[in-house]
Amino acid sequence: MRRPVIAGNWKMHMTCAQSREFMEAFLPLIADTPDDRDLVLAPPFTALSTMAELSQNSRVCLSSQNVHWEGQGAFTGEISPAMLKEHGVTHTIVGHSEPRKYFSESDEQINHRARSSQSNGLIPIVCVGESDEQRERGEAERVIRRQIEQGLEGLDAEKLVVAYEPIWAIGTGKTCAAEEANRICGLIRSWVGSPDLVIQYGGSVKPSNIDELMGMSDIDGVLVGGASLEPESFGRIANYQSA
Ligand code: 13P
Repeated sequence: MRRPVIAGNWKMHMTCAQSREFMEAFLPLIADTPDDRDLVLAPPFTALSTMAELSQNSRVCLSSQNVHWEGQGAFTGEISPAMLKEHGVTHTIVGHSEPRKYFSESDEQINHRARSSQSNGLIPIVCVGESDEQRERGEAERVIRRQIEQGLEGLDAEKLVVAYEPIWAIGTGKTCAAEEANRICGLIRSWVGSPDLVIQYGGSVKPSNIDELMGMSDIDGVLVGGASLEPESFGRIANYQSA
């Protein structure tokens, strides 16, 4: 049985004070959220300690937005699994299209990050997705398949989440049609070959499209950017109602 995972990726937003303000408004909104889903928030590293305190005894699990594969060492700007676990982090986002694009992250590096997450008891959320140009050239499936094969190599499919995030749908307001997102998620499931793999959709998820997306057979959750920054909109997304 696949348990839905509703995750908010705060990217480079939210100071500690803003995180506090968010949680004060958000926690009451999820007081009656059905117990059939996991709720995850990925604040920036600097807000993890504050968020660990604020999410104690709540439904909210914490994710990091990155993790390194070494336990420690001369890796300026990176963060180790132990540093994250000290703050109660349970998930890590790896392979997001932003570090892929801005910092040339490779599938091999992403795989190292995901493996280090799993071997330290953290659940990697591995992001994959094609660009606009790749989709127009008819290469979407080939690109995603390569990302899956290289990024997930050697991983335990039952201890990970895949997020299908078409790059052209991120922050653009252009959501991928629910049927198409579902088709790609189904393909990913068949390539990985694990019926229990949890697969999220991400890219302009909003209160207005969450119910339709979560009603799809192969979409087991969402990874939300912009709409996770507002307690009301992320509260509505957390409280999705699927048919
Ligand atoms: P938006 O929801 O702002 O499109 O961002 C999606 C995303 O990148 C989540 O990781």
